[in-house]
Amino acid sequence: MADLAAALDCEVVLTRDGTPAMFDRATGELMHRTGPLSEARELYAEAARLPERLSAAEATPLVVLDVGLGAGSNALAAWRCAELPRGTVRRALHIISLDRSTAALELALRSEHAAGFGLQEPSARAAVAALLEQGRHEAARSRWELHLGEIQSVLPALGAEFADVVFWDPFSPQANPGLWTCGALGAARRACRQGATLHTYSGATAVRAALLLAGFAVGVGRPISAGKTATCAATSVEQLAEPLERRWLERLRRSTAPLPADAPRDALERIAGLPQFR
Ligand SMILES: C[S@@+](CC[C@H](N)C(=O)[O-])C[C@H]1O[C@@H](n2cnc3c(N)ncnc32)[C@H](O)[C@@H]1O
Repeated sequence: MADLAAALDCEVVLTRDGTPAMFDRATGELMHRTGPLSEARELYAEAARLPERLSAAEATPLVVLDVGLGAGSNALAAWRCAELPRGTVRRALHIISLDRSTAALELALRSEHAAGFGLQEPSARAAVAALLEQGRHEAARSRWELHLGEIQSVLPALGAEFADVVFWDPFSPQANPGLWTCGALGAARRACRQGATLHTYSGATAVRAALLLAGFAVGVGRPISAGKTATCAATSVEQLAEPLERRWLERLRRSTAPLPADAPRDALERIAGLPQFR
């Protein structure tokens, strides 16, 4: 296993409440602002209702597209729902992780950091070690595979309509603008099967606008901090617990940075005309 942590320029730091988190020196951002275990569980695995979706007796696996593997926390939160479940699992889980680097995951796996990233359990360690060494891991109820490369080229090459859940977790729109465009989110939309949901920590107006322009119905996700919420998107509005309503359009019109860089000129009219705002 190559030691790439230095090359990626990441390190494990303690957040204000003493929780370990992966810090990326190049962007100056934490991979999870409230800590990897709780954020991965709450904003991704629970927001996507994975325990419930995995308890349904379905012949085809539930496919989770994990965009931005990082230290593996989101993917592991999903993996745990299938392999270390609290309830019944009747449906297999297939995780497809994308990233350009495995350095953060390698760092998280080191013995001094493992507990902070949920990697103290032997079965989780074995899954991550296999993913790092062979690019895939299979267990009783799950398959996990890793596709290394630039997300903008790897994601379209995976094909269309295969994902049931998307975890969209790049760095922030300021640090990683190319992955918050209509084009990048359009690739995520094409990857979605009917009934799929997408989950991201960002609640920025421009991110929600990009998701709408990319063809998703968009709603408010879980609370993150005072006045801030995550975002949940879906292939149809019926799947959203709290869809954005017409009054959000006022915020969009008033916002000083309302649209992604590649938004069409008539973006505001297009968004206002979408079925979820009628
Ligand atoms: C916020 S971190 C992801 C954290 C991760 N979801 C976790 O649970 O630990 C963002 C990740 O996206 C990756 N990334 C950002 N832009 C990328 C790109 N254009 N192509 C491939 N990977 C990219 C970075 O290498 C980094 O690992």
